[in-house]
Amino acid sequence: VNFVESIARKRDGLPLEPEEIKAFVQGATSGTLKDEQLAAMLMAICIRGMSPAERQVLVEGMRDSGARWRIGEAFPEAVDKHSTGGVGDSVSLVFAPLVRACGVPVVMMAGAGLGHTQGTLDKLAAIPEFRTAGSREVALARLERCGVCFSAQSAEIAPADKKLYMLRDITGTVPSLPLITASIMSKKLAVGAARLVLDIKQGSGAFCKTAQAAQELGEALYTVAERAGASVKAMITDMEEPLGDRLGTANEVLASIEILRGGGDARLREVTIELGVDALVTAGRTPEAARAELESRLADGSALSQWELIVRAHGGDPDDARLARPRRTVTIVAATGGCLSAVSSEELGWVAVNLGAGRRFQGDGIDFAAGLRIHARIGNRIEPGQPIATLELGAREVDLDELKRRTQAAFSVGEAAPPVRPLVNRWLAARR
Ligand code: URA
Repeated sequence: VNFVESIARKRDGLPLEPEEIKAFVQGATSGTLKDEQLAAMLMAICIRGMSPAERQVLVEGMRDSGARWRIGEAFPEAVDKHSTGGVGDSVSLVFAPLVRACGVPVVMMAGAGLGHTQGTLDKLAAIPEFRTAGSREVALARLERCGVCFSAQSAEIAPADKKLYMLRDITGTVPSLPLITASIMSKKLAVGAARLVLDIKQGSGAFCKTAQAAQELGEALYTVAERAGASVKAMITDMEEPLGDRLGTANEVLASIEILRGGGDARLREVTIELGVDALVTAGRTPEAARAELESRLADGSALSQWELIVRAHGGDPDDARLARPRRTVTIVAATGGCLSAVSSEELGWVAVNLGAGRRFQGDGIDFAAGLRIHARIGNRIEPGQPIATLELGAREVDLDELKRRTQAAFSVGEAAPPVRPLVNRWLAARR
């Protein structure tokens, strides 16, 4: 395969042959193709798209670029849950102990923050001494010990994605349906849980801003997972405003613990329960029985005990008094009164990143003390001067006036209340 010809074919909108896609993946993994050529192909794919057949070859090629853990063979009941990325979304931290407390093992490949979103991997890193699993042996040992394994991408799992993800992040080629599908599914299939629960985010804080984009991504992820033989459930959930009331790392761990203690933010709790229902349905429960079981595991403290067990099994300290706290806080108030009509969640995500909850450039550190707290929800009546958000400052030097201005501008106050949005927009697969 002459790779320059392959780039030119995709540039001109022609489909790639399976051999050309495999050469692309191999070149990314082995380093034999130059970054410039990989980036040119990524941009061509981003603009021209891929057919479902091309996409399938790309997913399988990326899956096979490293080891396959085949977790489903050792733990056929284990379920993997994935969110396509949003803000205030710490569902994974509640889902894992809660679903495990209902007797279903959970294996999760956690990712670092991408763009304006805060990743599960960065939230777990905020827990003192917590270590994710980077090999099959460690993953199996953790599942054996506590029924849950949080793993992170390593040189072992889908190394082609590691290279392409990094290039996409710096070449404006992240928002591409085939590239997102291949990136997510190559890692999921390499880990190899037999059951998969997908949360496709839609709205201002998601990568898919419209219902159509979310539907297309959901269908692509669903089709690839089903073709791989996984039992899969998928839903599209609201990301027009942050899911929970905190954006950050350590503060999102605290928000998750509040839910595990039986309280916490109602929206975060509800989406976690909905995804938990899907997980338990794949394990044979009815939706009604699943919901009742999940509610009771939150109420009786067993999900919280499970969390502590999981953190210890990952080498971490579950004492939440040791989580980083902000050095100081700055309250943002509403400039005008009315009804909160819209929130730019992506903008709030970027504010959190700039405060320290994310990376502004490759190699940037995370400030676990930094983040944002939301005090107003779409549809709330707002008085002038009422607190709408709190900036939580850590050690990073920031342009505070700019971040205050951006936070205030992210909240739109109007006359009338907007229509009520459902939290779960659509199920892509029947529950029964
Ligand atoms: N998550 C991933 O792992 N990859 C993407 O491209 C987007 C979200």
